[in-house]
Amino acid sequence: MASIIELNDATKSFGRVNALRGISVRIDAGEVHCLLGDNGAGKSTLIKILSGVHKPTQGVYTFEGKPVELTSPREALDMGIATVFQDLAMLPLMSITRNFFLGREPRKRVGPVQVFDSGTASRITSEELNKIGIKLRDPDQAVGTLSGGERQAVAIARAVYFGARVLILDEPTSALGVKEAAVVLKYIVQAKTNGIGVIFITHNVHHAWAVGDTFTVLNRGTSYGTFKKAEMTRERLLQMMAGGEELEELAVELDLIAKRDPSEAGKLEHKVAEELDREARGTGDKH
Ligand SMILES: Nc1ncnc2c1ncn2[C@@H]1O[C@H](COP(=O)(O)OP(=O)(O)O)[C@@H](O)[C@H]1O
Ligand SMILES: [Mg+2]
Repeated sequence: MASIIELNDATKSFGRVNALRGISVRIDAGEVHCLLGDNGAGKSTLIKILSGVHKPTQGVYTFEGKPVELTSPREALDMGIATVFQDLAMLPLMSITRNFFLGREPRKRVGPVQVFDSGTASRITSEELNKIGIKLRDPDQAVGTLSGGERQAVAIARAVYFGARVLILDEPTSALGVKEAAVVLKYIVQAKTNGIGVIFITHNVHHAWAVGDTFTVLNRGTSYGTFKKAEMTRERLLQMMAGGEELEELAVELDLIAKRDPSEAGKLEHKVAEELDREARGTGDKH
């Protein structure tokens, strides 16, 4: 299958900080590509390149097989690459309708002037949110009155409505409770079913495993590689996320302690086991 977007051998430096090194990813239509990695791994930097916020320091970005140089998020959006950034780009005091259309409001003629067609806008907003299962009491209520999950839903519905080919979601579930996260995961699957290529960033392996077709794991600016679901297991993904090296270092340390004082080592092992267990249950969310 042909990819929609592809990034090959990309590097991004901020002054002396090498945020990304030698990263290659491709996004296909109708797939959920999960981007995993610990805080500071470079996930946001990578999607900022894909969404036109940053230019890669090195590397080639291709859209439908042709090299492109994006100069702004607007340009990416016009090509059908819609991004919901980690700090949701919404205006909390503005209405849901206004947020849905942000910068693309339908207009109507009143005498000699064009004005915002609020009736049409409200109707479309209600219809589109209805399609993904959200019944609005009033599309003119402030977006700030919605829950975190509902705001993600508005952002996803907006991307689908405006014909996104690629939908990039930066940690859409990390600030949510279990039920709300499940609802957002459902929207992700709906977007994929509509043929959209979804990039889903998370550090929750369980959320990723539930909806992902493809997984790329970043670690301190480099990639552990990209894997299809069939060639991956959830346990392996958890291991990668925990950082194989760190666990090995820890094992050596534990071993040393055990040789000196077996009772100390026992306590420490117990603590580590608890920590890993908490991570496995998906309650170890950080931001
Ligand atoms: N605009 C920037 N200027 C300088 N350093 C940055 C900038 N953006 C990100 N970084 C650095 O790049 C690294 C990766 O950050 P980021 O992509 O936000 O990681 P993640 O989203 O995986 O937590 C971090 O070390 C971060 O401090
Ligand atoms: Mg981030």
